Amino acid sequence: MNSLDAFAEQKLAALEAGALRRRLTTTGRGPDSAATRGGRAMVSFSCNDYLGLSQHPRVIAAAQAAVAAHGAGAGGSRLVTGNHAILGELETRLAAHKGKEAAMVFGSGYLANLGITPALAGSGDLVLLDDLSHACMWAGARLSGARVLTFRHNDMDDLRSVLAANRAGHGRALLLTERIFSMDGDRAPMDDILSIARDFDAWTLVDDAHGLGVIEDGPRAPLEMGTLSKSLGSYGGYLCASRAVIDLLTSRARSFIYTTGLPPASAAAALEALVILEEEPDRCARPLALARRFTARLGLPEAESAVVPVLVGEAQQALDLSAQLEAEGFLVVAIRPPTVPAGTARLRVAFSAAHSESQVDALSEAVARLTAG
Ligand SMILES: Cc1ncc(COP(=O)(O)O)c(C=O)c1O
Repeated sequence: MNSLDAFAEQKLAALEAGALRRRLTTTGRGPDSAATRGGRAMVSFSCNDYLGLSQHPRVIAAAQAAVAAHGAGAGGSRLVTGNHAILGELETRLAAHKGKEAAMVFGSGYLANLGITPALAGSGDLVLLDDLSHACMWAGARLSGARVLTFRHNDMDDLRSVLAANRAGHGRALLLTERIFSMDGDRAPMDDILSIARDFDAWTLVDDAHGLGVIEDGPRAPLEMGTLSKSLGSYGGYLCASRAVIDLLTSRARSFIYTTGLPPASAAAALEALVILEEEPDRCARPLALARRFTARLGLPEAESAVVPVLVGEAQQALDLSAQLEAEGFLVVAIRPPTVPAGTARLRVAFSAAHSESQVDALSEAVARLTAG
């Protein structure tokens, strides 16, 4: 065996030994949170389609119309020929939704975070992250070349003391957090974060991937990024901020400049989804209500968002529980390290406006039974 394949085989064996190897499973999706795997029909509690909009007839029709009118792909980067009109409409609507002067759409949320931080901070600056921040916030922070420090998850005393000890001696300072944490479903204390940021002359970037359309209360940060791929049911990422910041990033964010523009269909789908999101407050209230129904039935701490973790512990136990639920018709994927810290493997249950109360009750009953004793 050549050394490259030997390296891969040895790494795979180590991952396998720790129940940490990942495998793709072909999954079909349909309306009403339906999913199929290996010919088995299931109800998915693992999609981030919080408002069920990826399957909405108006969203699908908007994507189809955009393909028919503009073709399948953008054909170039946005600064060259890939800046089709729907992107501008989407940006205007996103900015208005967030109460900001301007917005820019990236190829994905991951690409947004990869571009934003390095455009605003660099050598001699400080980037401070909540230690449970998403992998793409870490990636952007590391890529920036700034000094990267963390504060304990949602711990405002720790944030203040890390800043007090380290802010001096750095030029710019950027705080990174998530409005709703992707794997824990809890909320960042945005009031406190923004006030501490002001005290230390730091800028705040909040990742709203799991909040948009589901949890909208609380203050906005100067830099609000997110994704079009979860509650908006499409694909792509965005940043909403002041006109000056958006203009700067249009010239400086490398993951915006050196990549092809979002396909017209993705932008059109997200735009139509945003219109529906704003028209239908009842739809937006449903994921949290269903998540709270679930946590009440299981005696778990009350859900703060559409995401509820069911902590299991070891990776193999989480895989086993997920497999047992799958056998009963529930798709609830196990989340393992390094996505979550070691010893905190879990089921991540994601609720959607497309779920029915009876589906939630059936899942609650199955989780209670399978985790009893
Ligand atoms: C908190 C958070 N930020 C960013 C992303 C990345 O967004 P995208 O899927 O659009 O790349 C995700 C998940 O995908 C996420 O959970």
